[in-house]
Amino acid sequence: MPHYKTQIYKGHIIDTPTMEQYRIYENGYIVVEDGKVVDVFATLPEAYLDIPVSNYGDNIIIPGFNDLHIHAPQFPNRGLCLDEPLMEWLFDCTFPLEAKFIDLEFAKKVYRVLIKELWKVGNLRSLIYNTIHYDATLLLFDMLVQSGLGGYIGKVNMDIESPEYLRESTKQSLLETEQFIIETLYKSDLVKPIIAPRFVPSCSPELLTGLGQLAQKYQVPVMSHLSEELNEIKIVKQMYPSFPTYGSIYNYFGLFGQTPTVMAHCIYSNKEERALMKKNGVWAAHCPSSNLNLGSGLMPVRIFLNEGIKVGLGSDVAGGGTLSMFPSIIDAISTSKLVWLFSGKMLTPLSSSEAFYMATKGSGSFFGNVGSFEPGNDFDALVIDDHDILQLDYNLQERIERLLYVGSHENIIARFVQGRNLPEPIFD
Ligand code: GUN
Ligand code: FE
Repeated sequence: MPHYKTQIYKGHIIDTPTMEQYRIYENGYIVVEDGKVVDVFATLPEAYLDIPVSNYGDNIIIPGFNDLHIHAPQFPNRGLCLDEPLMEWLFDCTFPLEAKFIDLEFAKKVYRVLIKELWKVGNLRSLIYNTIHYDATLLLFDMLVQSGLGGYIGKVNMDIESPEYLRESTKQSLLETEQFIIETLYKSDLVKPIIAPRFVPSCSPELLTGLGQLAQKYQVPVMSHLSEELNEIKIVKQMYPSFPTYGSIYNYFGLFGQTPTVMAHCIYSNKEERALMKKNGVWAAHCPSSNLNLGSGLMPVRIFLNEGIKVGLGSDVAGGGTLSMFPSIIDAISTSKLVWLFSGKMLTPLSSSEAFYMATKGSGSFFGNVGSFEPGNDFDALVIDDHDILQLDYNLQERIERLLYVGSHENIIARFVQGRNLPEPIFD
């Protein structure tokens, strides 16, 4: 029986359809048709025996990593200014860099290196903020499409409480956001536009109203920052004293789950705010590396998981120092141990499989059926050669646990997006 466009991959297959444990197939097979997973098999069913197998031998096949929160223009600032808390860090270091993206040549140089790095670290889908600049945002969109990686790109909106050099008029912000959506909505299957109000302190009520209307009109998703830092929260409370929670402000403007929504950080989200996230199906992007670097706080991720809120991982570059999900996974586990200690050992720390889940299926679920090898999912995968870190005769559970701590993106030897083996992106 001919299998049109069927591919079969053999190797040690590890994923997390549920977060509680790794699912492991030693010397297993993944059958892929038209870029989608048919299923994973311990032994290959007879119907597939006549199809050639791509055999990765003793290497490991895992789902691709997905990053729920990054700022493309901040990429050159990784590792800088991290002795300042959020608001000072924004005004002293981040906004001056973002202002440079008016210059398309400069922007292109940054995006070139950034997108190559996304490929290198195996972040196959990413939720990416750009700056307020229309032209640069469009350029970033086109370059990501060219790379074959997937994601959402947002033109940032900021019309108040921002430096003169990085502020738009409300009208221009809305016009350019709508234009960006119209220009990109049907351009690519893998890369899509998203609405990206920076956060409540930098957007006027008129701007938030207009953005909520655009989300509705074009059925475009939304991403923003929520309850990240105490000073930020104080400013928001002063701006909207009658609102019960920070999240309820976004909700009022139709920017909190009315279309698919990711809110980054949520460190200080109280019970009421979390209940609204749960009710509206809002994803939390947990950004542990950034939260530690900026001293913003410790997100109690266990509470979110217990309450059934969707959580994915975000690098939050440049609050986070690297795009790689390896350190983010470890920082998520380490943060959860501090929360465990500070909670009188009430909030159980994250297990290895839970943190891995958050970087694959937890984040991937925002992009569709992405992040695990369940039937019908996109075949987004990384092939891992971990032989340089094998010092004992480890079983596969031990190999994946060790990989996260001892390995790095250097162990990735192939990357597949929707079944396509992606070469390193080349830009002119
Ligand atoms: N809140 C508003 N803007 C930003 C940003 O660029 N990074 C982080 N971490 N928080 C923000
Ligand atoms: Fe951020």
